[in-house]
Amino acid sequence: LSVKKELEKILTTAPSHEFEHTKKDLDGFRKLFHRFLQEKGPSVDWGKIQRPPEDSIQPYEKIKARGLPDNISSVLNKLVVVKLNGGLGTSMGCKGPKSLIGVRNENTFLDLTVQQIEHLNKTYNTDVPLVLMNSFNTDEDTKKILQKYNHCRVKIYTFNQSRYPRINKESLLPVAKDVSYSGENTEAWYPPGHGDIYASFYNSGLLDTLIGEGKEYIFVSNIDNLGATVDLYILNHLMNPPNGKPCEFVMEVTNKTRADVKGGTLTQYEGKLRLVEIAQVPKAHVDEFKSVSKFKIFNTNNLWISLAAVKRLQEQNAIDMEIIVNPKTLDGGLNVIQLETAVGAAIKSFENSLGINVPRSRFLPVKTTSDLLLVMSNLYSLNAGSLTMSEKREFPTVPLVKLGSSFTKVQDYLRRFESIPDMLELDHLTVSGDVTFGKNVSLKVC
Ligand code: UTP
Repeated sequence: LSVKKELEKILTTAPSHEFEHTKKDLDGFRKLFHRFLQEKGPSVDWGKIQRPPEDSIQPYEKIKARGLPDNISSVLNKLVVVKLNGGLGTSMGCKGPKSLIGVRNENTFLDLTVQQIEHLNKTYNTDVPLVLMNSFNTDEDTKKILQKYNHCRVKIYTFNQSRYPRINKESLLPVAKDVSYSGENTEAWYPPGHGDIYASFYNSGLLDTLIGEGKEYIFVSNIDNLGATVDLYILNHLMNPPNGKPCEFVMEVTNKTRADVKGGTLTQYEGKLRLVEIAQVPKAHVDEFKSVSKFKIFNTNNLWISLAAVKRLQEQNAIDMEIIVNPKTLDGGLNVIQLETAVGAAIKSFENSLGINVPRSRFLPVKTTSDLLLVMSNLYSLNAGSLTMSEKREFPTVPLVKLGSSFTKVQDYLRRFESIPDMLELDHLTVSGDVTFGKNVSLKVC
C-alpha cells in the first residue's frame, strides 16, 4: 500500500506532457512489484525440467536445406529488424549508448547494423525497416546520431522502453521522490531489462503501425551481437512452415562450450519450451545445469517473433516472464533492487515455439575490450556491415583472449595498441600489467 502511495506522489510531479507516459510506466512497475511480493520460492521446479524433445530444437542445416523460394523479396518485406538498444557502454568505460562505440574501421555497432540492412534492401529491392528499442539512458544520444542515416535505404523507427523506479532494499520503497532523472535522482530509475519490449512496443503504437504496413515477424537481437544478421533461411522457414502450422517464436540457440556454461538454456517444462537461466537453478543442481553434456545449448538472444502473436498475447495480458531481481549499490552506498525481465523468457507463452541450433558465427557478442580486439583484428573481414571469419585462419575457433584490467576501458585499450596485431595464428593470449603493443606486431603460437 505504501508503495502505491509513493508512486501516486511521484506521478503528481510529472509535467503534463509526460503524464500519460509516466502513468503507463508506473502502472507497469506496480504490477511487476506486486508479482514480486506475491511470488515466493523458486520460479522453476527442478524435478519438472526435461530435455527438449528432438524436433523442438532443429539443426540450422536442416532449415537451410529447404532452400529459398523465388519470392524471397516478398517474404523479406514482411520482416522488421529490432535491435535492443537500451544499454550503456559503462562496462567498457564509455558514457553514452553502447551501440555508439566504434568496433571496426571507425564503424559503430549501429553503423554496422544500418549497413547490413541497407545492403539487404538494395540487393533484394525491399523495404526492411530497423526499429531501435531505446531507453531513457540512450534515446537522446541515439536520436542525434540517426540523422546521419537520413540518406540510407533503411527506414529507422525508435520507441522507448519503460522507466521504472529503483527500490530501497530495506524499506522496499522507491528511491525517487519525483519523476526527474537527473541531479539527485540520476540513479533512482532504471530500464527494466529487454523483456520490457513486449509492453513498450505495444504501448508505443508502433506495433500496430507495422502490422498495418503488412509486417509479420520481428527479428530481435542484442545490438552488441555482431553475428545477429538477417538469416533468409530462418525467415523463409517461418513464413512457409513445412507443416502449415505457423510458428510464433523462434529462439536461436548454439552449442555450449566451456566458456559459456552460464548462458540460459532451453528446456521442456510442462509440455512447452522454456528458457531456464542459471539464477533460477537451485544450488544443488548448478553443476548439472552447467554441464555441457546434459544441457548442450544456450540462448543467443536472436529471436524471431510473430507480431500478431505479440499483439494478441499483450492484449490478453498473457505474456509470462520470470522476474529477475537485480541487486545494486548506488554511488552513495545505498543498497537497492531493480526488477527486470528477459525477452526470451516469454517463449513459453507463444504457440508452436521452436529452437534452431545455429552455427557459433551467429553469436559474436562484444562485451569486453578482449572481444573488441578479436573483432577489430584480421581474424575477421568486413563485408557490407557483416563480419566473417577470415579464410586465412586455419583453426576452427577464435583465440582465447584475456586483456588485463589496464585495458578495461575502451580509451585505455586503444591507447595501448599502436596498431591491431596480426592474430591469424594465435591460440590464446593473456595480458596483465602495464603493457603496450607497438606497430606491426604478430601474435602466434610458437
Ligand atoms: P545485457 O546488458 O542484458 O547483456 O544486454 P547480457 O548480459 O549479455 O545479455 P542477456 O541479458 O543475457 O541477453 C543485452 C542487450 O539488451 C539491451 C542491451 O542494449 C543489449 O543490446 N538491453 C538490456 C535493453 O535494450 N534494455 C535493457 O533494459 C537491458
